[in-house]
Amino acid sequence: EDVWRKDLKMIHGYPMIYAFALDWERMEEFQSRPDDLVISTYPKSGTTWISEIVDMVLNDGNVEKCKRDVITSKVPMLEMSVPGLNISGIEQLKTTPPPRIIKTHLPIDLLPKSFWENKCKMIYLARNAKDVAVSFYHFDLMNSLHPLPGTWEEYLHKFLAGNVPYGSWFSHVKSWWEKKKEHPLLFLYYEDLKQNPKEEIKKIASFLGKTLDNETLDRIIHHTSFEMMKDNPMVNCTHMPSSMLDHSKSPFMRKGVVGDWKNYFTVAQNEKFDAIYKKEMSGPTFKFCTDI
Ligand code: PPS
Repeated sequence: EDVWRKDLKMIHGYPMIYAFALDWERMEEFQSRPDDLVISTYPKSGTTWISEIVDMVLNDGNVEKCKRDVITSKVPMLEMSVPGLNISGIEQLKTTPPPRIIKTHLPIDLLPKSFWENKCKMIYLARNAKDVAVSFYHFDLMNSLHPLPGTWEEYLHKFLAGNVPYGSWFSHVKSWWEKKKEHPLLFLYYEDLKQNPKEEIKKIASFLGKTLDNETLDRIIHHTSFEMMKDNPMVNCTHMPSSMLDHSKSPFMRKGVVGDWKNYFTVAQNEKFDAIYKKEMSGPTFKFCTDI
C-alpha cells in the first residue's frame, strides 16, 4: 500500500513528491490557454475551499451545477501524477472544457512558463504558517505519496527547514506575493475568508468580471462552509483511492479552523518558530509579517 512513500526528489532546488517528479519534462512543456484560471497555494492553505468557491462564482451560485463532478475533476491539479494509479493532471486537462480552473502548489520557479506568457489570471490563497504546519503534518499521515512526518516535533523541524513537499512555506508565500506586482494575481488569506467570506467572495467575483447579488453570495457562503463541504462527497476527497488518501488516519476535511496550532505547539516550539519567522519574513510588507 505504501508503494509511493518515497523520499522527496529535488527538482530545480525544490523538494518534490517522488511520484510527481518522475516525468518532469512534461510539466515544463505544458501549454496553458489565455483563459485558464490558476488557483495557487502552498499545500493545506484552503485550496479545496477556494476551488469550490471559484466554481460556485463562475456558475452563479448554482449548487446543482457545482455537483456535476468531483472537485479533483472540476479543478485538476497540474502537477498531480501517479503512474501506478493512472492519475495525471496534465492528461485530465487535455479534456477539461474551457475556461479551465487549474490547481497547483508549485513554487513560482516551477510553474510552466506558458502561464506567464499567456498572462493567465491567478488567485493565490495564503494561510498562516502555524496552522499550515499542523494541517500538513496530518496530511502526511494520510497521504501515501508523502514521506511519513515522524513525530510532531520531528515534523516541525522539517517544515521550518523547508524539507517538505514543495519546499519552504516562507519562500513560497514571499515569491507569490512579489509576483502580484507584475501579473494579474489576486492574493487572498484563509483567515479573511473565514472571518468575512462575503467581502472576499466579492473580490473573487470582481476579479473574474462578475457581479453577484446578495442572495447568490449567501448561497455560495453556505454551500462552501466547512460543515457543508465536510459532508459533501463531491469535495471532501473521500472519492480518492484509499491507497492514496487514507481518511482513517486523518480526515481530509479535518477541522477547518483558525488557530488549531495552539493545540499542538509547545511554548518552546512556538518561540523557535517565531524567531525563524521573524528572520524569514522581515522583507515583504504583507499581513503575515506582523500577524501570524
Ligand atoms: S491540499 O491537499 O493542499 O489541496 O489541501 P487544502 O485544500 O489546501 O487544505 C486543506 C485544509 O483546508 C481546510 N478546509 C476548509 N477550511 C474552511 N472552510 C472550508 N470549507 C474548508 N475546506 C477545507 C481543511 O480542513 C484543511 O485544514 P485543516 O486545518 O487540516 O482542517
